[in-house]
Amino acid sequence: MSHDMKRLVILISGRGSNMQALLEARLPAQVSAVISNEPSAKGLEIARGFGVPTRVVHHRDFAERGAFDRALMEAIGEYDPHLVILAGFMRILTPAFLARFEGKVINIHPSLLPAYQGVDTHRRALRDGVKIHGCTVHFVTPDLDSGPIIVQAAVPVLQQDTEQTLAARVLEQEHRVLPQAVRWFFDGRLQLADNQVRLAGECRYPDPIISPLTA
Ligand code: GRF
Repeated sequence: MSHDMKRLVILISGRGSNMQALLEARLPAQVSAVISNEPSAKGLEIARGFGVPTRVVHHRDFAERGAFDRALMEAIGEYDPHLVILAGFMRILTPAFLARFEGKVINIHPSLLPAYQGVDTHRRALRDGVKIHGCTVHFVTPDLDSGPIIVQAAVPVLQQDTEQTLAARVLEQEHRVLPQAVRWFFDGRLQLADNQVRLAGECRYPDPIISPLTA
């Protein structure tokens, strides 16, 4: 990989399927490292299989969140990344962390934000009987699951859905929109103004279930 290649660091906590989608996508960036807060995260093995350096910063090794965040910041800082991606990373980051990487942290969330912030999104969507559900890629700000939205994809909720079938339908879309958002980021097309994301340049509708973004 050449030295002027853009660098990204991916944070995970578990399975790592979104991370894998990023590793398989042809991104105009190098994945410098995959870092997990969970030593047993399955995604670490997958990353190694792709030849990507992995690190563990175990939250249980730290007495409080601030100390964990500082260690995480240090680990990430070593790679001096242009972008940090939370791909199923299940820890809340402190404002100090986000200040350090301001405008450079994006997250994939399994709901159509601002609906269903937090955990158990699929269960709550089923319980509410919503007919459309989906996922959101957004910039991370100190307010949980509330940062500027980059792209969303919606899926139907079917009569016979279980949490598992609905999660699988949403996950398929996560694997599409996350690499798309990262590509836009590195192409310099994401412009932040008034807490909203605008996509510079032409935007066609690649699929009716993907939200349109206009310049
Ligand atoms: C995804 O649904 C993601 O949106 C959520 O946690 C899940 C992680 O899955 N935050 P994976 O580890 O990427 O397979």
